[in-house]
Amino acid sequence: MLIEKERTGAYVLEQRYPLPLSSAMPDVWELWRRAKTLEWDPQTDIPWEDLHPERYSAEQGLAAQMYWSRRTWGEYGAISESPALLLRFCLERQLPDLQFFFTMRTMEEGRHAEASWLMAERLGRYFSQPQNPPTVGAVGTHGVRRMAFDPETSLEGIFASLVCAAEEILIDVFKATVHKATNPAVRRLMELILRDEVRHIAFGWQCLDAWAPSFTPETVRNIEAAVTTMIENVEFRGYRNLWLAIEGGSATPAEIDADRISCEAGLGGNTPEDEMQVFPDFLRKIRKRMAPPCPACCTPPSSGARTPMPASAPSAPCARSRAPVWSAS
Ligand SMILES: [Fe+2]
Ligand SMILES: [Fe+2]
Repeated sequence: MLIEKERTGAYVLEQRYPLPLSSAMPDVWELWRRAKTLEWDPQTDIPWEDLHPERYSAEQGLAAQMYWSRRTWGEYGAISESPALLLRFCLERQLPDLQFFFTMRTMEEGRHAEASWLMAERLGRYFSQPQNPPTVGAVGTHGVRRMAFDPETSLEGIFASLVCAAEEILIDVFKATVHKATNPAVRRLMELILRDEVRHIAFGWQCLDAWAPSFTPETVRNIEAAVTTMIENVEFRGYRNLWLAIEGGSATPAEIDADRISCEAGLGGNTPEDEMQVFPDFLRKIRKRMAPPCPACCTPPSSGARTPMPASAPSAPCARSRAPVWSAS
């Protein structure tokens, strides 16, 4: 419906009524319920009195300011782009569980942006932009707004690339390195962001699992293209970690080294060695998780599917683990 109207240039009217609001995806509704009860406030729930920026060298302080400034830009990107995806849900008349959860998801990204900005400020300085203007293109967007309004990109592709890949690598690195944050204020902030992000990822996988039985070969190709594009054009362009861009892209040496220096000071971030360990593991994990399910060992969810389940079973053995990657608690 949406795609045809977009192609013809017609105004896309939201078919809102009747408006049933009962939950049809209990797992997603549970994430919405938990999100409402796990509130935190960056102003009051971080032990800012334990930050003590004066205890760090000028080089360490500058690196941490750069690292937390760039995190702010990434989180702000989620604020500025998430609503586009929410509109897409409404236009496609997705189940209400998605709309409820995603409103909270956008609010939580706002909380992460405020918290990261406060951290940079309280470490001494928030940088409001990259040092070289071309770097803006690498750190400013992960392309959700473009994909959300692109009728050629399926919702499944957006979920697989944005939620199940882009957010997953982000928290894989956070989870693998949070213990290195010896500063109590930084550690607490990372833990609180991680707690929210785990729910965001669980949401993505729960939706994909529910929709998987209705995937067509075209849907699968769309997912493959979206995930590949995200990894090649977003991750390897330096969106999350500037040194992952080819030869650092247009970032300055100080920006490229900031993550390592900040990490080694215990102020957040990660080293190239961490990344070399986590990134291949992440790729292996999502390849396995996105492998086709088979009814012999995978039980498809009974609700939330976009179309009825197919009757035929795939012949290939199932390489997929349905065990949740994260606990969304
Ligand atoms: Fe976030
Ligand atoms: Fe998130």
